[in-house]
Amino acid sequence: MGLSLRAERGIKLFFINRKLHRWFRPLSDTLKKLGYLIELSEWCERQTHAAIDAADAEFRHDKRYTLYEFLLANKGLDRPMDYLEFGVAAGNSIRWWVEHNTDTESCFVGFDTFTGLPEDWSGGFGKGAFSTGGKTPDVKDVRCTFRAGLFQETLPKFLETYQRTDKRLVLHLDADLYSATLYALAALAPYLRKGDMLFFDEFNVPLHEYRAFTDFLAAFGFKYRVLGAVNTFHAVAMQLE
Ligand SMILES: C[S@@+](CC[C@H](N)C(=O)[O-])C[C@H]1O[C@@H](n2cnc3c(N)ncnc32)[C@H](O)[C@@H]1O
Repeated sequence: MGLSLRAERGIKLFFINRKLHRWFRPLSDTLKKLGYLIELSEWCERQTHAAIDAADAEFRHDKRYTLYEFLLANKGLDRPMDYLEFGVAAGNSIRWWVEHNTDTESCFVGFDTFTGLPEDWSGGFGKGAFSTGGKTPDVKDVRCTFRAGLFQETLPKFLETYQRTDKRLVLHLDADLYSATLYALAALAPYLRKGDMLFFDEFNVPLHEYRAFTDFLAAFGFKYRVLGAVNTFHAVAMQLE
C-alpha cells in the first residue's frame, strides 16, 4: 500500500528543502540494494522451473558449462549463430562456444577492454580486474574475432558494418557492470528478434546485470522466457519471444 500522491509530494518537498539527503546519504546504497534484491528475489521465484541445478544448491562457477551443454543439446545452439560476447577477459566462455558450435556459418565476436573492468564493481572486483594486459585470447578459429576497447567505443564501430541475417543472434553479457551491460543491450536492441538469446553470467547481482536487464526491458519492452539457470540464477539464459 503506497502513500497518497499528496503525502508523497509533501515528503519530497520537505526532503529537498530541508536537504535531508545529508542525513540519509549513508543509507542510500543499502536501501537501493535492498529494493533491487526484493525485486530480483521475486523474479527468481517466478522462474523456479528454469533452475537446471535445483537439486544442488552449492555454488560452483563451472556449473555454467552444464547450462551451456543444456542449451547446446536442447535449444538449437549447435546451429548457425552470430554470437557476440561482452566481457571476454581470458576467453573461457567464448572459447567454449567456438569449440562446441562447429557450424561453419557461425560467427563469434568478443568485446572487451582487455585491460580489465573500466570501473569498480560492487560485486567484489575493482577497476582493472580481469585484465589480460591488453592481450586478446588465443582462439585459433577464423570464425572468431575480438574488438579491444570500451564497448561504448567498439560496438558502434562494429555495428556500422554488421549485417543482421536469418542466423540467430546470441548476446552473452558477462561484463558484470550495470553501465556496460545496459549499454550493450540498448545498442543491440534494434537488431534483436524473436528467437534470439541472451545469456547473463552474473545475473543475480541486484544492482548490476539484473538492474541493467530490467531497465532494458522497461525501455524496449521485449518479451522473453527463461530457458535455464544455474547457481541460484547467477548464470541465466533467456530467449526472446
Ligand atoms: C568477468 S570478466 C569476463 C569473463 C569471461 N567471459 C570468462 O568467461 O571468463 C568481465 C570483463 O568485462 C570487461 N568489461 C566490463 N565493462 C566493459 C566495457 N564497458 N567495455 C569493455 N569491456 C568491459 C572487463 O574488461 C572484464 O574483462
